[in-house]
Amino acid sequence: AAYDAEGYTHFMRKEIHEQPAAVERALRGRLDLRFHTAHLGGLNLDPREAREIRRVKILGCGSAYYAGQVGAQLIEELARIPADAEPASEFRYRNPVVEADTLYVAVSQSGETYDTLAAVQELKRKGGRVLGVVNAVGSAIARECDGGVYLHAGPEIAVASTKAYTSTAVVFALLALHLGRIHDLSPADGRRIAEGLRALPAQIEEILKQEDRIAELAREFAAYRSMLFVGRVRGWPVAREGAQKLKEVSYVHAEAYPASELKHGPLALVSPELPAVAVVPDDELLDKNLSTLGEIRARRGRVLTVGHRELGEDAIVVPKNEPELDPILLSIPLQLLAYHAAVALGHDVDKPRNLAKSVTVE
Ligand code: G6P
Repeated sequence: AAYDAEGYTHFMRKEIHEQPAAVERALRGRLDLRFHTAHLGGLNLDPREAREIRRVKILGCGSAYYAGQVGAQLIEELARIPADAEPASEFRYRNPVVEADTLYVAVSQSGETYDTLAAVQELKRKGGRVLGVVNAVGSAIARECDGGVYLHAGPEIAVASTKAYTSTAVVFALLALHLGRIHDLSPADGRRIAEGLRALPAQIEEILKQEDRIAELAREFAAYRSMLFVGRVRGWPVAREGAQKLKEVSYVHAEAYPASELKHGPLALVSPELPAVAVVPDDELLDKNLSTLGEIRARRGRVLTVGHRELGEDAIVVPKNEPELDPILLSIPLQLLAYHAAVALGHDVDKPRNLAKSVTVE
């Protein structure tokens, strides 16, 4: 077969391990190390048009939506353009206001998700400008958009998205760098981000080397019936995607919450029976996150931390990059956690029950 899980037990694991190469391909030929920006050939957006963008709205479903949330934060942080992500399905059902100075971005691995396609069609009907961040070349969504960026992640077979999610986040970092350098991102910051992006493949490799330890943690945590995933700001979409992945393949109930919202509800659930996965990068919110860890531990909840240092007995440490790019690396261990939890529980990892790789019907 031209493409099979050879050498790997499952496509999901194969695709997790393909990420350094996938990220390499997403970056290839796109970084400009002279002017500290990114070139994205298919945008169809000249600098004058790009400067006029006042808002960015990102649409997608499932992991594409969570990757879009990472993307929205990158665009807002680096280009200082207000940006947010919304499930494509919600967007198309709510009769949205379509604005001329908003850049709409549709995200889809398959390029065939019906809800996302319908959102793009609705936008086009109302005169909106839509870019696609798509993996499948020539797919329905790619054809419908005014321009876009391909992921070049290669085929993704496992239902649970891993490499396409990561490549999407990387492409958004490139788009944020590109828009940022047209708006107000300084050459020095542009250079910092471009160099950070170049460091990603080797850093992902470093994380993948910790697979045995992560698998051990996954086996322990798979014994719980439910888990909480928390993160603040940059850690929040990471927590959401981590919970999504765990639910999809291991069927362990998982709920993601912004760390700051814990005290407004879910803290009532924390007990020795409900462990938490806390996404805690070494950024300007570290102190706030440490106090959240304290709140969970005070209720005897077990905490698995994912961050840049050992914050307790159960900790996964990832390499440091630029703070804006942290979410990309922090997501990787959570993919391995979900994968190994599913394997430990004996589930059909590549084809979880009730789910389809691409939902092409309403
Ligand atoms: C399905 C899959 C998800 C995926 C979502 C969006 O629900 O089960 O894993 O994230 O579709 O797919 P897309 O191809 O549009 O990225």
